[in-house]
Amino acid sequence: MKSIAFYNNKGGVGKTTSVINVAYQLAADKKVLVIDMDGQSNSSRFFADEPKAGLEQALTRSIVNPDVALCPTRYPNIDVLTATPALNDIVSLFYALPEDAQRENVEKLLSFSDKYYYILVDLPPALNKITERVISSCDYVFVPIELSSFAIQGISTVTDIIAGCGARFGGCFVNKFDRENPSDIQLMEMLKASLGTKALNSTLPFSRVIKNSVSYKVTAPEYMGWTFAAECVANLAKEIAEICGGA
Ligand SMILES: Nc1ncnc2c1ncn2[C@@H]1O[C@H](COP(=O)(O)OP(=O)(O)OP(=O)(O)O)[C@@H](O)[C@H]1O
Ligand SMILES: [Mg+2]
Repeated sequence: MKSIAFYNNKGGVGKTTSVINVAYQLAADKKVLVIDMDGQSNSSRFFADEPKAGLEQALTRSIVNPDVALCPTRYPNIDVLTATPALNDIVSLFYALPEDAQRENVEKLLSFSDKYYYILVDLPPALNKITERVISSCDYVFVPIELSSFAIQGISTVTDIIAGCGARFGGCFVNKFDRENPSDIQLMEMLKASLGTKALNSTLPFSRVIKNSVSYKVTAPEYMGWTFAAECVANLAKEIAEICGGA
């Protein structure tokens, strides 16, 4: 079992989009659990018709099993632990728990069933005690970014957060990459210079296939499997699996 968090404290960079598409791709031959840790419920609503509450209980009360929020999905190899806005209301309650209880409750989420090979965690664009605990307890953390000079400058903040949590930084990958834009090509070089091998070779292009597919409640490979965008999704999932030693 490998738990993989997708995190960036910046909003809208593609955490949810990546989780959805990578989960679909990895589920071709492995059981995947998606854990939605974001009260916006975006990945929950993508996978399940009606997100179930309960994750907030499992995080704050040791006797509550995470499976209260477990939903099957239309994909035989993917289940989801859904989030609801109730998750936003328990941050201070969680913070008030003893450190051991915080850690145990998060570990309970990540290990509640051994039937999954991959656990992909969709995190919110916020750093709070819950996010921190999840980052520390996952096996790997990947960071999607959108290229801009601000994002390149901000990347050290994100890697510092990950290092501060004692987590293993799997790498950073560029989403919404415009390969015909000289500025993006230059920024990509800067990212590689700053992160070395921690900058993934795979990127996801800025693409209507990726954007629109989610609106139709399908992944990019399902929506238009023959496109460059779908090929990029497959490459990203493969590279992530290789880094996590599971390919
Ligand atoms: N490669 C892409 N090409 C075009 N649009 C994209 C791409 N990736 C994501 N988007 C769009 O960008 C928006 C933000 O994406 P997404 O919700 O995945 O980001 P996020 O990091 O999870 O956001 P949040 O921080 O709010 O949770 C969405 O409208 C999504 O459809
Ligand atoms: Mg999101």
